[in-house]
Amino acid sequence: MAKKSIVSMAVIRRLPRYHRYLEELLKNDIKRISSKELSEKMGVTASQIRQDLNNYGGFGQQGYGYNVEELYNTISKILGLDRTYNTIVIGAGNLGQAIARYTNFERKGFKVKGIFDIKSDLIGTKIKDIEIMDIDKLNEFISNNNIDIAILCIPKDNAQKIADRLTKNGIKAIWNFSPIDLRVPDDVILENVHLSDSLLTVSYRLNEEDLFKNSTEEK
Ligand code: NAI
Repeated sequence: MAKKSIVSMAVIRRLPRYHRYLEELLKNDIKRISSKELSEKMGVTASQIRQDLNNYGGFGQQGYGYNVEELYNTISKILGLDRTYNTIVIGAGNLGQAIARYTNFERKGFKVKGIFDIKSDLIGTKIKDIEIMDIDKLNEFISNNNIDIAILCIPKDNAQKIADRLTKNGIKAIWNFSPIDLRVPDDVILENVHLSDSLLTVSYRLNEEDLFKNSTEEK
């Protein structure tokens, strides 16, 4: 089973949102924000924000609000954004290429050091300035390049085999886009991404009213 977190995942999942909103406030040169204003912007209660931050020592002052820059810097630090991470992308198809090209990750400190694929027509070509390598080079590359995170963008058939190779070679974190429940050792962080969950939420909401109209008609 993958590594468990100390603080609850519900709290952890709210932190990037706090970070994003605070970044936006900073960009708009807003120096201070009341906890009420911040909570209204974020759609969570002020007490939820306080409770979340209390996990890390608590910030801000009652009735005075938060210093935006201070809180932003602290949450950046909590999120580990005060350092950089070496990443590799496995699978240089549509998704892998999009991720490797997305400059905002790099700006946040996630540097793509290597990209791997099995297709001979991709191997040797470049995405940005990074050459796509044969997957056969994976073990050697990991050993020599201090890789922190592997980003898995391959079809599910090969994903477990590659995940096993990654963890056997010392990778401690996998950001997994392959549609499969991977098995990884207890000390490995596994974060699965399902864009389709978000898309299906959109389609649900487009149809929600019809759903209830029909069920009322049926009664
Ligand atoms: P794609 O077919 O464009 O790219 C997949 C790439 O992986 C190909 O270049 C292929 O040669 C390579 N590959 C296959 N086996 C490999 C191996 N053992 N080692 C290295 N490279 C290997 O597919 P696309 O659109 O990029 O999607 C990739 C995966 O991500 C699919 O499984 C897809 O279902 C999934 N996906 C997941 C999303 C999510 O939200 N979780 C969103 C979009 C795609």
